[in-house]
Amino acid sequence: MNALSDLMNRIVSLCKRRGFVFPGSEIYGGFGGFYDYGPLGVELKNNIKLQWWKRMVYEREDVVGLDAAIIMNPKVWEASGHVEAFTDPLAECFACHHRFRSDHLQSDSCPDCGGKLSEARKFNILVETSVGVLEDQKKKAYLRGEITQGVHVNFRNVLDSTPLKIPFGIAQIGKAFRNEITPGNFIFRQREFEQMELQFYVKPEAEEGKKWFEYFKGLRMQWYRDLGIRKENLRFRDHRMDERAHYAQAATDIEYNSPFGWSEFEGIHHRGAWDLGRHGQYSGQDLSYFDNESKERYVPWVIETSGGVDRAFLFFLLDAYSEDGKRVVLRLNPKLAPYKAAVFPLVANKPDIYNTAHEIYHQLKRKLNTVAWDDRGNIGKRYYSQDEIGTPWCVTVDYQTLDDGTVTVRDRDTAVQERVKANELEGYLVQKLS
Ligand code: GAP
Repeated sequence: MNALSDLMNRIVSLCKRRGFVFPGSEIYGGFGGFYDYGPLGVELKNNIKLQWWKRMVYEREDVVGLDAAIIMNPKVWEASGHVEAFTDPLAECFACHHRFRSDHLQSDSCPDCGGKLSEARKFNILVETSVGVLEDQKKKAYLRGEITQGVHVNFRNVLDSTPLKIPFGIAQIGKAFRNEITPGNFIFRQREFEQMELQFYVKPEAEEGKKWFEYFKGLRMQWYRDLGIRKENLRFRDHRMDERAHYAQAATDIEYNSPFGWSEFEGIHHRGAWDLGRHGQYSGQDLSYFDNESKERYVPWVIETSGGVDRAFLFFLLDAYSEDGKRVVLRLNPKLAPYKAAVFPLVANKPDIYNTAHEIYHQLKRKLNTVAWDDRGNIGKRYYSQDEIGTPWCVTVDYQTLDDGTVTVRDRDTAVQERVKANELEGYLVQKLS
């Protein structure tokens, strides 16, 4: 086993052991391509989504949010081109009958048994479902293959219900589903996953499209950098013409240097007039925009930023993971850390110490939401246990607390300890977090 696949194994094992990610339906033997997020995983995931929403919606004047239904009128997927073009090329091994994405294969023999592979065939990866109770009246529908279309079909609704003028954007976070042929690399390629997207509508002019495309490339890369991903592990990769999605005029991926190679976890796409043009045509509704300043009517172009919550989750974990002798430290940005702090009584059998620690724990929890409590084992073990899940600060109440009202605050990354007045602790941590 090489060092990189070993790192991946350690992350998978940490995720299971400490409650970040569990295999989906595990007691029934699992279900390929589906995962469940545990008590710590849900916090990390929520923090990623909150930080995304802050940067993409709250800090801007030109973006609003939306939460569209997962199941939509099936015509949406005809208009969007997914029924026709949302396909992966698939080759089957003549010997073991395993199937593979032919665009991911290096040779024409099968990776599992060396057998010969068939010609590639195209498979549609939209997940089908049916709506309605009566057998003969059930209607075929799809679980959305991207969250994007729920935004575009509401373009007019948002325009009519807000004072927004072009250029403006609509942000959304939510689940998407794909019948991936080869789910794998843990949560990297799943059949149910979450996306965080901005659809930004601009005037249909070449310079305008280029300007916003470049702007959002920079903004999205900076977001990952600000949340701590190391520069050398991030890069842009422009799509060649032949690999662009059916809707894209230009596309760039943000890739992470993962144990399984440079891998995409966000795409910036110049979608041109594809979406509103097609929905206008298929629905028969007017989805053009009247520009009051230039007195022109046009179908806006779309610049999209489309990131995967699960892939960001995996790469934040991989990038933060470090081992320092026996100590595993998850150097997550405190804004992403599942617990913001942990509180310990130095000893559990001294009521004064125990009760003071408990009071501090409750007070901090009211302010910071997620605070861990641990009164088991020795203090060293408690520190190790919090380091491994990325808790940035551990607070210990000890004998000195009873004398002078101070507590020990230990920093995860430096292991340096400071004495802080208990009644100033909340402000101290809030300030560090901001
Ligand atoms: N609306 C554009 C769109 O969906 P995409 O490149 O197909 O573009 C965007 O997907 C992002 O969604 C990817 O960069 C990735 O982070 C995430 N994603 C796509 N398929 C995924 C899968 N099977 N499992 C986990 N994440 C996935």
